[in-house]
Amino acid sequence: MSQSLSGKSILLGVCGGIACYKSVELLRLLMKEGAEVSVVMSGNADKFVTPLTFQALTGRPVYHRIFESGTENAMEHIAFSQKAELLIVAPATANTIAKMAHGLADSALSNLFLAYEGPVVIAPAMNSVMFSHPAVKANIALLQERGAKIVEPASGELACGAVGPGRLADLDDILSATHAILKKNLDFSGVRVLVTAGPTREFIDPVRYISNPSSGKMGYAIAEAFRDRGAQVDLISGPVRLEKPSGVEIFNCVTANEMHDCVHRRFPHCDILVMTAAVGDFAPRTIQKEKMKKQGRQSLNLELQATVDILKSVAQKRTTQFIAGFAAETENLIESAKEKLISKGVDMIVANDISAPGIGFQSNMNQVSLVYSNGSVERLPRADKREIADILLDRIRKELKS
Ligand code: CTP
Repeated sequence: MSQSLSGKSILLGVCGGIACYKSVELLRLLMKEGAEVSVVMSGNADKFVTPLTFQALTGRPVYHRIFESGTENAMEHIAFSQKAELLIVAPATANTIAKMAHGLADSALSNLFLAYEGPVVIAPAMNSVMFSHPAVKANIALLQERGAKIVEPASGELACGAVGPGRLADLDDILSATHAILKKNLDFSGVRVLVTAGPTREFIDPVRYISNPSSGKMGYAIAEAFRDRGAQVDLISGPVRLEKPSGVEIFNCVTANEMHDCVHRRFPHCDILVMTAAVGDFAPRTIQKEKMKKQGRQSLNLELQATVDILKSVAQKRTTQFIAGFAAETENLIESAKEKLISKGVDMIVANDISAPGIGFQSNMNQVSLVYSNGSVERLPRADKREIADILLDRIRKELKS
């Protein structure tokens, strides 16, 4: 096994559930990968596994009673929580999940959770009826919204004889979540980012609209990359069929006008704006109140008027923000992107050749060139949209430093 967690400080939170014998194996796996693990237990966990087991395995004191830690210096645990890079709660019972969601501090684990500021992985394990209870679901959703990574329980036969979701996830899945977080670069920590994504729709009448095939995948991948690298992300989304990313604040809008208002409201609160949305350039001058009838017509003329250029208008209001726009082109890619960089007054344009087969709209792959404010151009390799997003973030980071 690789030593990929070498030197990483991890807190393993153990709750009082039948699955807590698996925490012993999880601890062993984490240590085998080189992690320095300290164990903290909820009030009932020691009814299943004794603190001595964990103490013997880790060689460290176990925090399991708030007011009698059994160590010479009770504050040692607080010190460790400050140094810890990850808290894994496995198994997480309904009781401890509720305490963590609502800030109760009456067990060593829920107490330490409040004193700890780093990333958290939660692996629930309980009876499947309990797991599907709306109260448990709501508590899990709340923790997830606040950025906790939930490793969903597996389905199967439970200790109580019932069959359904509720078994502690495979330890491999908990390890993968651990790797994903600890190997991560948190270089945008504390940075506030605004990303727009997806198409807009401009209505002709109540049932018809003008739009474009943007899937929103590129913008969502950028929002997720920023989130994973520690940023606080607001995502303004046009209508898309994508899952709402956790740990990101989503603002839904439909028309270019709505997106304009939403961007202008959020912009003063951000440090970086990445405008990925494929905003409609024209909208019908009037929207028919009722569905338009054919009435034997063979043709129909629509009068369109230009929508507001969101990027240009918001760039005029910038104070210290870094602004990147996208350019969707079918010809003269770099030339048009350079023109847009200047006319819109932004710091970078991500130029996207949407006529190239297998990339762009709807696809999971993309191929872009970055046009910088000094006129230089960098062609990025064809890659998955998430990979493109991470390279884009690397370049933005570099631009912010220069
Ligand atoms: N954009 C915007 N508001 C609009 C149109 C575009 O904010 N009404 C933004 C897009 O989100 C993108 C950039 O401007 O970041 C360039 O969009 P693009 O559609 O490539 O260019 P347009 O400005 O619409 O110009 P053209 O259609 O002539 O290429």
